[in-house]
Amino acid sequence: MDFSEAINDRHSVRAYIDKPIDGETLRLLNGYIEECNREGGLHIQPVLDEPQAFGGTMARYGKFSGVKNYLALVAPKTEDFDEKIGYFGEKIVLYAQTLGLNTCWVAATYKKVKSAYLVDEGEKLGVVIALGYGQTQGKPHKNKAVEKIADINGAPEWFSNGVRAAMLAPTALNQQKFKFTLCDGNRVKAEAGAGFYTKIDLGIAKCHFEIGAGKENFNWE
Ligand SMILES: Cc1cc2nc3c(=O)[nH]c(=O)nc-3n(C[C@H](O)[C@H](O)[C@H](O)COP(=O)(O)O)c2cc1C
Repeated sequence: MDFSEAINDRHSVRAYIDKPIDGETLRLLNGYIEECNREGGLHIQPVLDEPQAFGGTMARYGKFSGVKNYLALVAPKTEDFDEKIGYFGEKIVLYAQTLGLNTCWVAATYKKVKSAYLVDEGEKLGVVIALGYGQTQGKPHKNKAVEKIADINGAPEWFSNGVRAAMLAPTALNQQKFKFTLCDGNRVKAEAGAGFYTKIDLGIAKCHFEIGAGKENFNWE
């Protein structure tokens, strides 16, 4: 499975079976996390076999069950913190999908267990991503009308493909508050709407757009 297939197959999964992530899968996942951390200057960490974060009332309220593994999205407190953890976090989500794992981005419905991950000076935890083998593969989310996200009339195929991939991206409360505009030539402007977590959502959507459009076809404005 490649990243484009992972975009189609990925849905948020909140209920997991009681099965540890197997050794080879974990080795590959850790290698990819390290790569993303190096490229983005981040400190994303896998937290394994830690049932407390998703063991309380918040997680039950969010309909989570069986979550024992998650990614702690820790990074230096920079101005682009949100967009960056969105972008690289989603790369890891899609890679995890290619390895047969399921995921769910989680900003609110969990409890912070501070002893489970490292936050160095000048860093902070953004959100977490639940990780494991799902009871199901989840289901597709409802989409906004494409016109609310981009004007694809007469646009080149790569642009429409990028927009379609972005519309499959996870967003907080499925809000899809992002917009893509094709500027002259091959430049694309991506903008976040107002509201909670919209900058994380934008980073996630840009990750999907690049995969759908093909990075070689355009530059970000
Ligand atoms: C930044 C962010 C935060 C999220 N926080 C939560 C959360 O606290 N609880 C939850 O159940 N789902 C959370 N989600 C998952 C969204 O509800 C989900 O991505 C959205 O409904 C779209 O569905 P899909 O991921 O299956 O495509 C979050 C997603 C994102 C991107």
